[in-house]
Amino acid sequence: MLDLSKRSFWNFTLKDILIIISSVAIPIALAIYTAIGSQQQKQQAEKKQKFDLEQSTQLRQQTLYDEFLNNIYKLDKDGYLNDTKNPWAFANAYYRAAHRQWDTIRKADVIQFLKEKQLIGRNNCTNGCRTTKLDDIIRLNELNFDKVHLASETGVLNKLNLQCVSFDQVSMSNGEFSSVNLNGASFDGGRLDKVKFDGSSLLCASFNGVNLAGADFGNSNLTGAHFSNSDMTGVKITKDQMKQASFDNVIMSNGKKSEITSSTTTTSPITKPSTTTTSSSTTSIGQ
Ligand SMILES: *[C@@H]1O[C@H](CO)[C@@H](O)[C@H](O)[C@H]1NC(C)=O
Ligand SMILES: *[C@@H]1O[C@H](CO)[C@@H](O)[C@H](O)[C@H]1NC(C)=O
Ligand SMILES: *[C@@H]1O[C@H](CO)[C@@H](O)[C@H](O)[C@H]1NC(C)=O
Repeated sequence: MLDLSKRSFWNFTLKDILIIISSVAIPIALAIYTAIGSQQQKQQAEKKQKFDLEQSTQLRQQTLYDEFLNNIYKLDKDGYLNDTKNPWAFANAYYRAAHRQWDTIRKADVIQFLKEKQLIGRNNCTNGCRTTKLDDIIRLNELNFDKVHLASETGVLNKLNLQCVSFDQVSMSNGEFSSVNLNGASFDGGRLDKVKFDGSSLLCASFNGVNLAGADFGNSNLTGAHFSNSDMTGVKITKDQMKQASFDNVIMSNGKKSEITSSTTTTSPITKPSTTTTSSSTTSIGQ
């Protein structure tokens, strides 16, 4: 046995020192080892939990999506999507209930499905403007599409076809359209602040009573597009685009683009879309 009381420090043998060191060091090493081990276990558990949560969220999204397609398929088969069934209450109820729970990726996917199935954008906009007067079967109005990104899968090669779709009264803050054909589309009464239109076609598109503050029209074609009663504060629009489009009672307090002069200012940028707008002041696009 080691008897410290009877020896001075200098009398320690190597064996004594080793005994002292190991008796202290082993528990410390063990404690550190255990601490590291449990920390790693905790991290692993957290990682797994996060992974499980992501998986179940994805699964939930997929289930909602599949169920929606299934419901629409059944309605279609049973003739509930025929024109005689206007206002298509079942289809819209299914859509709205699911829409509220979808993430932005699903919301965009579903818009493409609805267009392909001719449930939205049913009118003929082949040459830009609407030539027919059909009601959309699914109504997008008053829904939230903030941050939704609608893009052509092939980029500039083929535009995503969303011709003639009515995005009326929707919220689409920070939304993005990349290489999308939006000929004859309408965004009346919507909230489209900071929305981006990139490489898109907006022939004959209608923006009446829209909040377009900070919107960016990129290099999109605005031939025949009509902007009225809208807040276009800080909007990014080129001189060429301004020549393509027509403006009626819009706020455009963007230093650079002040060549657009409006004789009257809007009272309220977000107004109900009105087709009987008295076009007392057509903005002139100066040089
Ligand atoms: C409604 O749809 C069903 C199923 O496709 C079809 O058999 C029926 O003829 C349609 N009715 C009308 C009035 O279009
Ligand atoms: C759409 O309108 C164009 C021109 O107005 C016409 O040539 C075309 O046949 C129409 N398409 C359909 C599917 O009605
Ligand atoms: C915009 O579209 C119109 C109609 O298709 C076309 O005539 C015009 O050349 C286009 N403008 C640009 C800049 O691509």
